[in-house]
Order: sequence, then C-alpha cells, then structure tokens
Amino acid sequence: MSSNTQSTNYTSLFEASLANPETFWAEQAEQIAWFKKPETVLGKDANGLDRWYAGGQLNTCYLAIDYHVQHGRGAQVAMIYDSPVTNTIQKYTFAELQHKVAKCAGALRALGVEKGDRVVIYMPMIPETAFAMLACARLGAVHSVVFGGFAPHELAIRIEDAEPKVVISASCGIEFDRVLPYKPLLDEAIELAAFKPKHCLIYQRSMCHAPMLEGRDVDYEDAVAKADPTECVPVDATHPLYILYTSGTTGKPKGVVRDNGGHAVALKFSMHHVYDAHAGDVFWAASDFGWVVGHSYILYGPLIAGCTTILFEGKPVRTPDAGTFWRVIADHQVKTFFTAPTAFRAIKKEDPEALLKDKYDTSSLQNIFVAGERCDPPTLEWLQKIAQLPITDHWWQTESGWPMVANMMGLEAFPVKAGSATKPVCGYNLKIVGENGQELEANHEGYVCLKLPLPPGFTPTLWNDDARFKSSYLKKFAGYYLSGDGGYVDEDGYVFIMGRVDDVINVAGHRLSTGEMEEFVASHPAVAECAVVGIADELRGQRPVGFVVLKDGIGIDETALESELVGIVRDQIGAVAFFRTAILVKRLPKTRSGKILRKTIRQIADGESYTVPSTIDDPVILEEIAQTLQRRAVGQAFENQRI
Ligand code: COA
Ligand code: AMP
Repeated sequence: MSSNTQSTNYTSLFEASLANPETFWAEQAEQIAWFKKPETVLGKDANGLDRWYAGGQLNTCYLAIDYHVQHGRGAQVAMIYDSPVTNTIQKYTFAELQHKVAKCAGALRALGVEKGDRVVIYMPMIPETAFAMLACARLGAVHSVVFGGFAPHELAIRIEDAEPKVVISASCGIEFDRVLPYKPLLDEAIELAAFKPKHCLIYQRSMCHAPMLEGRDVDYEDAVAKADPTECVPVDATHPLYILYTSGTTGKPKGVVRDNGGHAVALKFSMHHVYDAHAGDVFWAASDFGWVVGHSYILYGPLIAGCTTILFEGKPVRTPDAGTFWRVIADHQVKTFFTAPTAFRAIKKEDPEALLKDKYDTSSLQNIFVAGERCDPPTLEWLQKIAQLPITDHWWQTESGWPMVANMMGLEAFPVKAGSATKPVCGYNLKIVGENGQELEANHEGYVCLKLPLPPGFTPTLWNDDARFKSSYLKKFAGYYLSGDGGYVDEDGYVFIMGRVDDVINVAGHRLSTGEMEEFVASHPAVAECAVVGIADELRGQRPVGFVVLKDGIGIDETALESELVGIVRDQIGAVAFFRTAILVKRLPKTRSGKILRKTIRQIADGESYTVPSTIDDPVILEEIAQTLQRRAVGQAFENQRI
C-alpha cells in the first residue's frame, strides 16, 4: 500500500467521492499540470450531457512526457519494447520518447494534421504505434486506433465514421511466427470506404516491405527524419483525445470518445489508488493498443504517472513458450502486471504446474490485475497458488476507460471473494436495477447501472452521435448509465458481474457483437434466418456459434455451408471474431412476438439449468436444439457426447 494514502481508507474516500463529486474531483484535478485551470468542475454541454473541467486547458502528451523531462525524469526509461517475435528489446527514456514523438508530430503536421483533425492508426504492437498516438495528442489531433485483427470492412467503417486526414499503418504485424501483411488490408479498406484519407503514413518493417501508392502513401521513417520537432498544443479539457470504436449490438460500432481533461485526472487517480503504481515503478499491461486497456494502461496511465511501461509484442504462449510472461517480469523488474484471464488460461493449459515460472526471479512483482472478462474462480485460484500474490479482478469497459469495480490496492486491500471484482471504485455510484427501474437489494441480480453523474474519464458521448449515446446508455433507466452487464451486489458490498445482458460477447478478452455476426451470416443466399450465440469456451471464455435455418427448397451440405459462413465472417470482421461453427437447425426458438431466445440456446449449450419461457412459441424446438448440439458435439453440455 502506498505511504501517501495509508491514512485514508476506502470507505471514507469512496463516500466523499459520491457525497460531493465536484469537491472530490476538483481535489484530484490538482494532481495534474494544467496550462489553464478549469473554470467549472462539472457542467453540462449544449446537448445536456455532463462535461468535466470546462475552461481548463492542458495537453495529454505534455503530461505523459514533457512534464517528466522538465521535472528530472528525462533519463528514466519510459517505455520498454519487448518483442519475442522479432527478438528485440528496445528501451526509450522520457527524453528519447519526447524526441521521437515531437518528430512524429512534426511529420503529421507536415501532412496537414492540426488540432481536431482525426488520424486512424492501424498498427501492430511496435513503438511507432505509441509514438503515433502520443504525436496526435501532442498536436491536439484525435486518434482512433483500430485493432490489427480486424478485417478491411471493419477498418473501412471506422475510417468512414472518423473521417481521418491521415491513416498511420505498418507493412505488417506478426502473430506467433506468421508475418501478416497489414498494408493490403488498409488498401482494401480505403477502397471500400466512402471517405478517403488524404495520406497514409506507412512504417516499413524489415521483415516485410509494402508497395506504396504514389501521391497518397508516405514513408514513416523518411517523413519523421525530415520533420521539425513539434511543441505541445494546448487543448480544452473537453477536447477529444481519441475515439475508440467498440462493439455494440448492431453492425455499426460505437465511437467511444475520450476527452483530455477528465481522462488525465482519472488515469492519474487510478494509477495511484487502484494499481498502487507510482513514479519510477515498472508497470506492464499485456494487452494491445487496439483495446481500451492498451490506451489507458500501456500508454497514457503509466506515462502520466511517471512509470516505466512495457510494450510487449507477443502472446502468453508459443512466443516462445508459456514462460514468456515470467521472463518479461524478471527481465524488466515489473512491479504491477495486468492481463486478461484468458491469457492465464492459455498459460495454465500449457504449463499447469507453472514450472516455467521457476526459471525466473519474479520477486519484483507485487500485484496482478485481470480484466476484460470475469475471472473464473478456477483461474483465480490457480493464479493465487502459483503467484502467491494479491490477484485483483477488476471490472471496466471501453466506455469507462478506467476501472469501475476493483480492489483499490493503493488504498485499502479487501479480502478477495472468488467471482467478484470487489467493490465500486471511488466516483462510481453503482446500483443494481430491476426491469421496472427500481434499485434492487443485496443478492438480487439485475442490470448493473451507474447513477449519474459519471466520473471524469468516462466517455461523455459517442463520436458525432449524442443521440445514440443517450438512447444506448441513458434512456432505459432515467438517471442511470446502463452498462450492458448483469450482476448483483452481496451483503458485504462486493460486486459480482455475471455477463452481458445484450448481444455483446467476450472472446479471449475481445469484445464482439453477435448482432453484427448475424448480419453477415444472414447475408448468405441460402440462409433464411440465424442466431449467433456466445457459448462457454474453456480457453477463450466465450466463442460464437451460428444457428442457421435454410431458405425453403435450398439443398446445401452443412459442412460446405459452414465453411462458407466461417469465411464470410472472417473476411468481413476478421480472424479475431473466432467464428468457427455454424449449425443447421430446422427452426429457431422464439417468443410468440418473434424474439429469438438466444439466452436459452446458450444455456442449453452450456449445460445450465433454464426455465422454458412461458412466452415460447413451441417448446419442442428447444429439444431439437439440444439434439442438434449433441449431434455436432458443440457446447460444454455435449462436447463428449456425440451421437
Ligand atoms: N493482428 C492480426 N491478427 C490477429 C491479431 C492481430 N493483432 N490478434 C489476433 N489475430 C488473429 C490470430 O492470428 C488468430 O488468427 P487465426 O484464426 O488465423 O489463427 C485469430 O485472430 C484469433 O486470435 P486469438 O483469439 O487471439 O487466438 P490465438 O490462438 O492467436 O491466441 C490467446 C489465444 C488466448 C493466447 C490470445 O487470444 C490472448 O493472448 N488473449 C489475451 C487477450 C487480451 O489481451 N485481451 C485484451 C483485453 S485485456
Ligand atoms: P471492453 O469494452 O472491450 O473492455 O469490454 C467490456 C466488457 O467486458 C464489460 O462490459 C464486461 O462484459 C466484460 N468485462 C470486462 N472486465 C470484466 C470483469 N472483470 N468481470 C466481468 N466482466 C468483465
């Protein structure tokens, strides 16, 4: 526990944060260096949405880099690039990072990028991705990072919505030992998109050279070499720092907006109070810049807090083995480690006794955090046993940008209850709400909601779509934010998040929309209707399975259809969707009003008990679904019972 917070316990700080949010967050705002202090702490914008710190001016890149250079940390290592897939370890001090980022910002400015312009970044896990994100922040440009596992169609949707002046990309990524060319995917995406960026800044990696399109494409290294280093441009606290698209329930992803002021204050607060990480500490979030964890806790959070961050280009296994995480922790003296439970499940599968851990001195490690999906009790217990350290499951989402429920390790560590992410974090007035909008009592499961106002750092709106923000999150229960998760709070105030209550699933820590997959499956000419359901998966937590009804009179072999549907989803969404199974069924179970009973299908596949809904059209269909799952040996209930 940090010395400066020992006198404050969780309860007093948490209660203060809810009793008077403005006083609380005004105090927290003192922890960052503003160019101009905010005029109001919490106010409303023209559309009635809450905005933090209006009138304040700052620059997030300044807070992450220049501030530390000016305050004696220039020689401290700011970022370590550790890439087992290219056999590289490269360290950058804060002073070196400042130079790299200022030059990259200069290159962007030379291509016409100024404050408020958007820049899409489609990159693998390399230092240039971090330079590019920080360079945008330096200019006040708005970056939108697109995960490398997404296919051209997904990239195109994001380009169309964000309308970037420039796209930054690299010639390729590396997955295990495979080189995956990115540039052809980018070219295809631009071809597909109605909006065309003026320029693409392409980083050519040594293992793969991408052909360039004259007039549009610019070589990253040439442009940066020629560029003048650029200063930090002051922006308003409410100015967007980035847009990060995340899956909603439809094919159109939601452009989650992060502002500069609230984000910086919230991340600094969380680094200290949730993660117990402080200037000089080594902090490692093994995730990807394409996800919110990568934005908040590979890049901005650790750097704003003056920590050394680790940028890892590899996987928990097979790069080269299941000991790679322990090796990185030992090599770089990591104090705080954060990843998704699925990564530990992958390690556990290959090295159940954690024998590879014994090869390394991991004594620097003090805390392990997991998020992205619920940490299942067997994984938690395994981790507790092999690491002999506090393991913190904490709950958050792209929209929040920082943890909403956690054991606040920098404040007061509570005993862990398996299956719970512990207690609401300061600033989050979490309530469990029932179908009729009433707040539920302890141990009653309902919608996990946040009573307004949302704290700083939380998305204030969706990009160019206040109306969708209001209808998706604020409309169902007046005065509350609807998280999309279901769960309950127990008699001790511990929060149990039980899973999504909408059509979003989590596959290996990646948030995906089954609704979007259904749109693609249904686009096949033989398909009359379909349902895509996230069923339990031992490694990935969940995986999508398609249930398909054929059009009358169509004769097509199930295996052939399956491989075509798998191909469509892979081509349109990307390999990361992990859509590998499509099953033919005669009919889909529906309510009399026509709503497909996806939850019941999932319960049958997972072997969970379920009640036959009273509104079901024909209960026999559930029997048929069970028989079909058994025939295909799909789902944990049937995997070993093929007939
Ligand atoms: N660029 C291109 N392709 C990518 C990619 C990327 N950045 N990330 C994943 N893919 C591809 C993979 O190559 C794979 O393709 P394939 O079907 O051709 O083999 C597919 O997407 C599925 O990837 P994934 O689900 O990651 O499976 P995997 O077998 O490669 O790895 C794990 C499994 C569990 C090791 C891996 O998913 C993992 O490390 N998960 C942790 C997730 C995480 O950090 N989430 C962030 C939230 S904190
Ligand atoms: P994302 O926006 O990609 O970060 O995904 C957010 C979603 O992941 C949440 O709404 C939850 O459904 C799930 N999630 C993330 N962390 C946890 C956790 N610790 N426990 C349970 N679910 C989680």
